[in-house]
Amino acid sequence: MIKQAIIPLAGLGTRLLPLTSVFAKELLPINGKPGIEYILDECIEAGITEIIFIISKKKEMIKNYFYNDKFYKSLIKKKKDPRIIKEYKKILKYKKKIKFVYQNKPLGTGDAVLKTKKFIKNKYFLMLLPDDLIMKRNCSKDMIKLHNKYKGSVMASMSVQKNNVNRWGIYSISKKLNKQNFIISNVIEKPSTKEAPSNNAVIGRYILNRNIFKILKRQKKGKGGEIHITDSIKTMIDNKSLFIGHKFSGKYLDCGSMSGYINSTLEISKL
Ligand code: UTP
Repeated sequence: MIKQAIIPLAGLGTRLLPLTSVFAKELLPINGKPGIEYILDECIEAGITEIIFIISKKKEMIKNYFYNDKFYKSLIKKKKDPRIIKEYKKILKYKKKIKFVYQNKPLGTGDAVLKTKKFIKNKYFLMLLPDDLIMKRNCSKDMIKLHNKYKGSVMASMSVQKNNVNRWGIYSISKKLNKQNFIISNVIEKPSTKEAPSNNAVIGRYILNRNIFKILKRQKKGKGGEIHITDSIKTMIDNKSLFIGHKFSGKYLDCGSMSGYINSTLEISKL
């Protein structure tokens, strides 16, 4: 049963500067609501009951957003505005499900994941990267179904342009299970066009086995001097762990770059 999700939020968000110099990018509005709420809704709808946020001291505003009870209560007393009451109830619903852990130095996604080690209760957990929105279809829900069938790890994926492979983790396939799902034989973090074994990119949804923590503990720095989750996933694949690439249906929106962020509001307003 996959009941826990983790969300790394401790990165610097340099691609969205200057907005991120004082603001957490995950709270930036996308068509009128913070990006992180789309991710939370996806988790809750997929049956997740506990969500662990990895934040840093610099991003405490994310915690404050969900812990602003006093402010809401005093406003509701004075105003009795049904819209505010509804929003408050929604925030309370999220708050009950969220736990916070800290990664104060952004050493990489792998290091961020390692911070959740002592909180993960079951054999498998879900990880979502909040820059990657997938609309119109609940990708996490589809991946959990797939995991229940094959009892392995699952990563969301899509085909990208060959000249763009250096932005993603790129994987190669050993077996096609069906049109949308593939057994993965290797994965490389941000390869050059030459190095890339394919144009199948890993997108920010992962179902991982908690054995990954053992590997993460020993994980050396990789590309750009960061500790990447992809490098530990590669070790697990080399050690014969089952990893399935799931080509999701649904609309992908990359909210981590400025052009992508701007475009996401336009796209969601059309849905
Ligand atoms: P990215 O490296 O893609 O994004 O991390 P970033 O660091 O937030 O932004 P840029 O690249 O500087 O513009 C992918 C996800 O992993 C988290 C980020 O918050 C983001 O959600 N992350 C990254 C961490 O939690 N810790 C890290 O050390 C690095």
